[in-house]
Amino acid sequence: MKLNFDKIEFKNRRAALLAKMADGIAIIPTAPEVIRNRDSHYPYRFDSHFYYLTGFKEPESVLVLIAGKEDKTILFCRDKDMEREIWDGFRYGPEAAKTEFGFDEAYSITQLDELLPKLMGNQSKLFYSLGASREWDVKVTGWLNKVKEQARTGVSAPESIVDVRQLIDTARLVKTPYEIDLMRRSANIAATAHNRAMSVTKPNKKEYEIEAQFLHEFYKNGAQAPAYTSIVASGANACTLHYNANNCVLHSGELLLIDAGCELDGYASDITRTFPVNGKFSPAQKDLYELVLNAQLASIEAAKPNNYWNAPHEAALDVLIQGFIDFKLCKGTKEEVLENGDYRQFYMHRTGHWLGLDVHDAGEYKDKAGNWAKLEAGNTLTVEPGCYVRPADNVPEHFWNIGIRIEDDVLITKTGFEVLSKNAVKSVADIEAMMAEHKDE
Ligand code: GLY
Ligand code: MN
Ligand code: MN
Repeated sequence: MKLNFDKIEFKNRRAALLAKMADGIAIIPTAPEVIRNRDSHYPYRFDSHFYYLTGFKEPESVLVLIAGKEDKTILFCRDKDMEREIWDGFRYGPEAAKTEFGFDEAYSITQLDELLPKLMGNQSKLFYSLGASREWDVKVTGWLNKVKEQARTGVSAPESIVDVRQLIDTARLVKTPYEIDLMRRSANIAATAHNRAMSVTKPNKKEYEIEAQFLHEFYKNGAQAPAYTSIVASGANACTLHYNANNCVLHSGELLLIDAGCELDGYASDITRTFPVNGKFSPAQKDLYELVLNAQLASIEAAKPNNYWNAPHEAALDVLIQGFIDFKLCKGTKEEVLENGDYRQFYMHRTGHWLGLDVHDAGEYKDKAGNWAKLEAGNTLTVEPGCYVRPADNVPEHFWNIGIRIEDDVLITKTGFEVLSKNAVKSVADIEAMMAEHKDE
């Protein structure tokens, strides 16, 4: 269906890429439709790079940009087709797409093989992500060969191929106000869903019943999909980092870890909360929960402009390792445990990732010299320390099978940070109060 979107925003993004290209042609196809089984497809998801530059959600579309003396933006998309639209729904067709989305030209996708060799002729560089798709590599190589066949008529082929995704990735790292608004709304929908899940969780419910609450809240609030498969992990399941069977019964005395976020107009939220199934943390659960929470708060404080990307991770480790020593999970001094890596028995992942159109968003974490990237205003990232205690001889038994992660979505601002997911309840007191309020429902 038609979208509410800002045509100028997407035109500006294309203009920025054209300026970076300076001279040459870019070919950026969207993602293919994928069959789930027999004639059923997975829900369609456009390619993030393509979408970033177009706002166009239909499959079978390609963006072509020509940079030079005169820049040109061209969309190839599906034709209008009443028969197909009766079965599958609305499609723009080239004419309406050109106007609605603000391209200079638009053509039928069926003209791609005819027009691309012509458009590629006499271009100095080809901006294309070679190796990302075998199907597109074959097509693009075929068009290149067609251009080369015209050498005797004086038409030259691009001399070099530049990975266009790298240019787009750099732009995607710094979110515009338009993107930040979407990400704030996406995080807020997911935060509301986490609060809802907390208020309906009771012993003897199933993990998938709680997962259903997320889907309900996501769709009810206009999100188009979960941003990734929700993790709803009770008890020992929380110690499996990518657990997603979500089919166990919730037992009183266990914690429930939920990592779930939604996608709103392409933009992901990614939130984790951990809380007691019966509404009250046991002393051991509370000890570890508050340790992870303190690590997370310290980590968020380190998420500010000019700090290195790794600063939040280092801040989380500093708090976690001291706690692991205090709770007799690790032996030695803080420096020794950091150096020998013993903490990895309980904390084996990093503290976050870029967040945006992809849940693990585009963008480098280090520069070419190998130094950590510096955080800057407009970056969006997750901050997600955790602690996962599997039964082991070297572990006090009261901590066995406790898995905790606390994850928020954070925007770097000019002066510090904004927690986009701040509405998801997080302190022990607030979680217990919210669950007590809904205990008898
Ligand atoms: N939900 C994926 C992650 O936290 O990285
Ligand atoms: Mn994450
Ligand atoms: Mn997550």
